[in-house]
Amino acid sequence: MKQAFKDKVVWITGASSGIGEALAYALSARGAKLILSSRRENELERVKANCQQPEQVKVLPLDLTDSAGLEAKVAVAIALFGQVDIMVHNGGITQRSLVADTDIEVHRRVMELDYFSYIILTKALLPHFLSRRSGHFVVTSSVMGKIGTPMRAAYAAAKHALHGYFDCLRAEVSLQGIKVTVLTPGYIRTAIYQSAVTGDGGTFGAVSQEIDNGYPADKAAEQIVKAISKGTYEAYIGRLGEERLALFVNRFLPNLLIRMMPGREPK
Ligand SMILES: NC(=O)c1ccc[n+]([C@@H]2O[C@H](COP(=O)([O-])OP(=O)(O)OC[C@H]3O[C@@H](n4cnc5c(N)ncnc54)[C@H](OP(=O)(O)O)[C@@H]3O)[C@@H](O)[C@H]2O)c1
Repeated sequence: MKQAFKDKVVWITGASSGIGEALAYALSARGAKLILSSRRENELERVKANCQQPEQVKVLPLDLTDSAGLEAKVAVAIALFGQVDIMVHNGGITQRSLVADTDIEVHRRVMELDYFSYIILTKALLPHFLSRRSGHFVVTSSVMGKIGTPMRAAYAAAKHALHGYFDCLRAEVSLQGIKVTVLTPGYIRTAIYQSAVTGDGGTFGAVSQEIDNGYPADKAAEQIVKAISKGTYEAYIGRLGEERLALFVNRFLPNLLIRMMPGREPK
């Protein structure tokens, strides 16, 4: 597998921290050429410098909520190395608030970032993949893309939407050489709760035990690399724990799932 990514051009959004950063290191170590995107250019430059082959890495800052500007970023990304082979849609935020306390604007904001930005980039990149009869969309969903738990309605809705959209896309383009892999991570140790949005549009900013005890991002990146290599349709990422059990129970015994959930209030 060490050579599986040699000279493949991989564009990663959300590459300035957490899962995207760890994936950049794992892919650079395997010889991939990388395009790193997120808003914070200085953090992208730091990640680039820490990659095993920084000379094979380009930084392309973007704001995923700038829907009018995203299409143009695709043309820029393709021009950087002359092609894109794998697009990893990974940038995003989570949300922490009860449905009753969540403004509709917060739902729109999460949907814009965690769902619409992915499909805008996908639509703009698809002609490039189709013309080459090759390409791979990798999409970071979440266990929350398959189940629903308290305090995450906006986030879970956006992540569920990704499954619908990308399952349809796979069904449409798989015979044209294009792959789609949807990742469903459980708790991964990253800074995700620090930027989480609250019901009134504020920032959650808190640390959480579940994330602090989460699966290490570098190990998650190794699992993601395997899933990409195999072209797995849908891959659970994380440790074999209660999140994976929840996916299983939801699939086969959905009435039981709600009884397994802890209290309805945040800790
Ligand atoms: N950690 C978990 O337990 C977990 C579990 C399931 C799924 N996930 C998913 O994994 C993905 C990565 O999250 P993470 O855990 O690695 O969290 P993270 O460390 O907070 O990373 C989030 C990334 O998204 C970027 N981002 C945020 N808003 C953006 C915007 N408006 N435009 C462009 N980029 C933006 C951030 O970069 P900038 O701030 O530089 O823009 C950062 O690189 C997300 O899709 C998340 O939903 C995480």
